Amino acid sequence: MTAVTPTDADTTAALAVKTSEGAWALELQGVSRHFGALKAVDAVAMKVAAGARHAVIGPNGAGKSTLFALISGELALSAGRVRLMGADVSRWSAARRAQAGLGRTYQITNVLSGLTVEQNILLALRGKEAVKYSLFGRSRPTAAEDARIEELVGLCGVSQHRNDRASAISYGRQRQLELAIALASSPKVLLLDEPAAGLSPAERGPMADIVRGLPPDLTVLLIEHDMELALGLADTVTVLHYGQVLAEGTPQQVRDNEQVQDVYFGAAGHHA
Ligand SMILES: Nc1ncnc2c1ncn2[C@@H]1O[C@H](COP(=O)(O)OP(=O)(O)O)[C@@H](O)[C@H]1O
Ligand SMILES: [Mg+2]
Repeated sequence: MTAVTPTDADTTAALAVKTSEGAWALELQGVSRHFGALKAVDAVAMKVAAGARHAVIGPNGAGKSTLFALISGELALSAGRVRLMGADVSRWSAARRAQAGLGRTYQITNVLSGLTVEQNILLALRGKEAVKYSLFGRSRPTAAEDARIEELVGLCGVSQHRNDRASAISYGRQRQLELAIALASSPKVLLLDEPAAGLSPAERGPMADIVRGLPPDLTVLLIEHDMELALGLADTVTVLHYGQVLAEGTPQQVRDNEQVQDVYFGAAGHHA
């Protein structure tokens, strides 16, 4: 769910139906990050309703990953505000935002390759602090942990690999495991940075299905370079270009937007 241009009253009304009574799951106001003279993210505004599937798309270098780092707290804001379920988290650490329900995956996988699928998820369930105590000690899941692992491997399509080492499963399955790891902390808002990056065409479909099948009350923000994949998954879309919001709306509105078509399919000189 996103803000739309103020003139687009019909769209605003249509999208507002999905808004729950309370606060937005995520709300950005004037969010900016400068690297020297470069405005990597420049006054971005965005509103995402609880349970929405919201895609952030744009060419390489548009500022998508930087925006996620600003939302998660890994990077400090140069200006602007980030609200998570109504709370102003702009000055919170990444750890505190994670505790408040913000989960994320990375563009580069985050899986411990020497451990099994089960062990990877177990460590995520127990939290980072538990790693050094549990890894070489009591590493068997309790009954409750076992049930939760079973649920997560099912949701993420890696049930049949539960006892395989992460290094022994395909790259596509590792990305699915990474999603299970992110879900283990039961986030309310999940940021997915290019979940289909590096996947073969045959692996992209299953990943899209998994994202589609995530719990409906989970709010999902998805960065995706592949516009068709993103638009097929999302209810609402923000298009970034040179750090700024170029367009926003439903997938159809974004598809029909001439400036977006220009950036993706148009004139030479664009870096799409
Ligand atoms: N730590 C950094 N220091 C300097 N420039 C950066 C840094 N991180 C990203 N950038 C620059 O910011 C712009 C946006 O990058 P990024 O957010 O990674 O784009 P995207 O994810 O959309 O491809 C790029 O020009 C990139 O080179
Ligand atoms: Mg990126």
